[in-house]
Amino acid sequence: MRVATRDLGPGADDPWGLPALRSRVAERLGAIGLPSRAEQIVITSGAQQGLSIAVGCWLRPGDRVIVDDPTYPGVLSAVLGAGARPIAVAVDRHGPVLAELEAALAARPALVYVQSGVHSPTGGRLSDHRRDRIAQLVVDHRVPLVEDHALFAVDWSGVRPPRPIAARVPDHPVAVVGSYSKRFWGGLRVGFVRAPEPVARRLARVKATHDLGSSAFSQLAALHLLDHRDHGRFVERRNRGLARRAELLHGLLAEHLPSWRSSVPDGGLSLWVQLPAPVAARFAEVALRHGVSVAPADGLTARPEHHRDRLRLSFARSEAELRKAVDRLAGAWAELSERG
Ligand SMILES: Cc1ncc(COP(=O)(O)O)c(C=O)c1O
Repeated sequence: MRVATRDLGPGADDPWGLPALRSRVAERLGAIGLPSRAEQIVITSGAQQGLSIAVGCWLRPGDRVIVDDPTYPGVLSAVLGAGARPIAVAVDRHGPVLAELEAALAARPALVYVQSGVHSPTGGRLSDHRRDRIAQLVVDHRVPLVEDHALFAVDWSGVRPPRPIAARVPDHPVAVVGSYSKRFWGGLRVGFVRAPEPVARRLARVKATHDLGSSAFSQLAALHLLDHRDHGRFVERRNRGLARRAELLHGLLAEHLPSWRSSVPDGGLSLWVQLPAPVAARFAEVALRHGVSVAPADGLTARPEHHRDRLRLSFARSEAELRKAVDRLAGAWAELSERG
């Protein structure tokens, strides 16, 4: 990729992002059933910044926010950082449990957050029916929605995901947050937010207070990768590798830690493991001493007492590392079990 700064054109140092990338993002969203215009797109430094600016746009200290439970830890830190209070709504394999969501809406939250890509950390996928219902509920309750689409491309189910929630309520304030770091490479740090134009203007203003604008070079790299003829093949190959490693980790756990429960997800980057006892936090400490970092649920939930037996284990490592890690986890588990 050869670039001269004069090729970047107007907008290269603008908080909205490179015009060519914004157009490409809009086209790509259109192709998955969310018709979009470049004016609705703000390029961000990763989906994490998209979440932070959406939270900064809509939340005031003391506000309540509906967050899925368990969830992606970065949304909890953004919500807590804004001085807001999360209300946890349980998720199952098909998304937020609707009865809990409806009950939580009675507390008059200022914002609802849901994931419509592969769910982190459970690996579930939001069903078409729940997308419809969530769309209806946020409109009825007049509450803005953050739709986290970050893990959209890390999906090897072979099943085309239903169209985003935002497409069902085109005039409603929905911020769709996406990630190209997840599609291509974590170090890229390029994502986007897509929203109705008045909301997008506010998001761009908040984004400018974070960093004035995302690196033009990273944005160009993202554009180049999106336009690359091997883009589709690259994503498929990467997902095949992840699927193999998810299978491998699941199989190794079944063999070496048979009292643990996990299932192989159709996407994502981690297994959501259930231990036979509520000792996940203590186990994580022992595992760290054995040289493996695992995440107990504490940072992934607004109600840790519901998940004391849960661990998130990443499988985005090499096969050799996964084998070594499971050996060490088995050693750590034996040590904890002996101590009682
Ligand atoms: C559900 C979810 N949302 C947002 C993010 C942040 O993505 P990015 O790396 O683009 O900042 C992640 C990262 O793992 C994620 O899993």
